Amino acid sequence: MYQIGHKNVDELAAEYGTPLFAYDEEVLRDRLSSYVKYFRSEEFRTGVIYASKAFSCKAMIRLLSEYGLYLDVVSAGELYTAYKAGFDMKKVFFHGNNKSLAELELAADLGVGNVVIDNAQEAECLAAVLEEKDKDMHVLLRVNPGIEAHTHKYIVTAHVDSKFGVALAQEDEVIRTIDIIRASGHMVFDGLHSHIGSQIFDRQAYAELAVKLFAFAGKLRDVYGIETDTIDFGGGFAAVYTAADTPIPLEEVCSTIICTSAEENRKLGGLIRNLYIEPGRSVVAEAGYTLYTAGCIKKTPNRHYVFVDGGMSDNIRPALYQAEYDLFAAGKEDLPKTETYTVAGKCCESGDILIDSIALPKIETGDILVMKTTGAYGYAMSSRYNKLPGPAVVFVKDGTAREVVRRQTYDDIIALED
Ligand SMILES: Cc1ncc(COP(=O)(O)O)c(C=O)c1O
Repeated sequence: MYQIGHKNVDELAAEYGTPLFAYDEEVLRDRLSSYVKYFRSEEFRTGVIYASKAFSCKAMIRLLSEYGLYLDVVSAGELYTAYKAGFDMKKVFFHGNNKSLAELELAADLGVGNVVIDNAQEAECLAAVLEEKDKDMHVLLRVNPGIEAHTHKYIVTAHVDSKFGVALAQEDEVIRTIDIIRASGHMVFDGLHSHIGSQIFDRQAYAELAVKLFAFAGKLRDVYGIETDTIDFGGGFAAVYTAADTPIPLEEVCSTIICTSAEENRKLGGLIRNLYIEPGRSVVAEAGYTLYTAGCIKKTPNRHYVFVDGGMSDNIRPALYQAEYDLFAAGKEDLPKTETYTVAGKCCESGDILIDSIALPKIETGDILVMKTTGAYGYAMSSRYNKLPGPAVVFVKDGTAREVVRRQTYDDIIALED
């Protein structure tokens, strides 16, 4: 029987019900410590910022604290989760393209250390908030270097018309935004941030990014007299969803960024002192599994459906951008894969298909189906569509599971209703 954290998957399903998000805690811990180990340099002070949008709950945030990571939040909700988990607010980077006034005020009140500014209007707004509250923050500016990493078009984020950040091609706007930041007595302008996409397999994209960002930091100093000392390369490092995925090994992606940065920094006489990366998916994706119970099984003229007790409400990614996953039937791992199934969810949408076509042994109602690599953007993007209760989340280690998010009850679902 397949095990997660040394516990049989059928036992997890029996104890916690399905659908269930189960994380192998050792894998999570290994990823966190590996990132910290590999993203290290003699020349730079380095930091790994976990992008909590990939998967956020208090237990996850507490793990980050254990391993000394920083944290990326993009909303007051993510920020509040970190605060309640006791995370050091000075190590938070507050992102997002449309932070509201209330969110900026909360960030200032909680003592958030860093904000990644998206646009000039936001810079003005934050300046006013900090002035009024007499608080200070470190600031990076999110820029679009115009690099398109090879990834799905919906998750490429650094093209010039992206909704995120300011395009380097709009140099006047970049300078105007930095001027607003520098004119505030409460913002310390540290440098540049960029995030060029997700599920990136091409190490060259990060090397190109480093070349562009260092060159621009040099230009800021030499042409505009603006000093910076920090570059944040964003995230986007790939995970293995199916056998077709071959991500750049973690050591290599880290060393590509650090070595290219060192080379470029030499040209600038050592201008930059701090480097950050912001992995999300690659930290949590492969540690996570979704356990479903097979329900009805039916044949249509061209398909053999197996229906599961979740679907787009716990994993929107296949419907949203045709994300592909692997899945197996617990206890039937070694049986010949004689059937071809479409694995569909129970939501009222024809597009609620988790896997379009997969070879599996004969599936029977009641089988536990285990979908792999669902640790990122699964629970995080889940919805209450059709009022399906939010699944429980467990961390499993040394054969013991602990529920870090309990399953929603029907009363939870209507708790906010009049
Ligand atoms: C600014 C920023 N940083 C980091 C990430 C994390 O990306 P990934 O989960 O692909 O590593 C994202 C994802 O959207 C992002 O927008």
